[in-house]
Amino acid sequence: MSNSRYSRIVILTGAGISAESGLATFRDKGGVWAQYDYQEVATPEGFERNPEKVHAFYNMRRRNAQTVQPNAAHRALALLERELPLIAGVGAEVLVVTQNVDNLHETAGSRHLVHMHGELMKAWCTYCDTRMPWIGDMSSATVCPTCSASGGVRPDIVWFGEMPYHLEMIASKIDAADLFISIGTSGNVYPAAGFVSDARRAGAHTVELNLEPSEGACLFAEVHHGPASEIVPTYVDRVLDGSV
Ligand code: OAD
Repeated sequence: MSNSRYSRIVILTGAGISAESGLATFRDKGGVWAQYDYQEVATPEGFERNPEKVHAFYNMRRRNAQTVQPNAAHRALALLERELPLIAGVGAEVLVVTQNVDNLHETAGSRHLVHMHGELMKAWCTYCDTRMPWIGDMSSATVCPTCSASGGVRPDIVWFGEMPYHLEMIASKIDAADLFISIGTSGNVYPAAGFVSDARRAGAHTVELNLEPSEGACLFAEVHHGPASEIVPTYVDRVLDGSV
């Protein structure tokens, strides 16, 4: 029987894990922020100035996200979540903390998952504060199915200047983690970019799996660079067979 050294694993993912599924990253050449001004489409002020422009941006991304499939990296993380308790014992757990707003982790089978920057496939009515599944387009005329008001429905996305979701829960899991893995993120956006330092302070082994060294690569105890669809399944196999 194999024997993982780790039993409390927190995995942070970013746009790079979905790149090989066909979703653009933000800061790579030709990425989303090279084509759009984030202040116009990803801030509360931009939404106030021009809600239709913001809706059009997220309608396009929501439609696009429904045409893609998880890749081997998403599937490997779902496998790790399923297999770890079998080899490391009851109570062993994997938490995926994603900055991504696509649904590829859940489609691949991850269940213990939080979307810290919100979800494309959810709407938030700011009038009645209801959050609901949403796969179609939205506009300023969209009527909230709960309170029947129009004009208050927006994408359930955390914009720049807004507070990411689930921070308390994430902090407590990082505090208890023995392994922290960061996958496909450039390390530009806080608080996610600070998680590696929190994990180090908590005594966790820290690993970066990214196409190239991220902004904070030197903060990790172990780094592997290459496409996520290759390096993530390899690393997951090594965690499960106890060789790392
Ligand atoms: P970025 O676009 O900043 O970084 C993506 C990272 O993925 C880069 O370091 C790439 O080198 C790496 N990468 C690209 N292709 C890869 C591949 N095939 N395999 C592995 N790595 C690959 O995206 P994030 O770090 O996710 O927030 O960006 C963080 C946040 O900034 C996003 O959640 C979004 C954005 O603005 C909001 O919109 C609020």
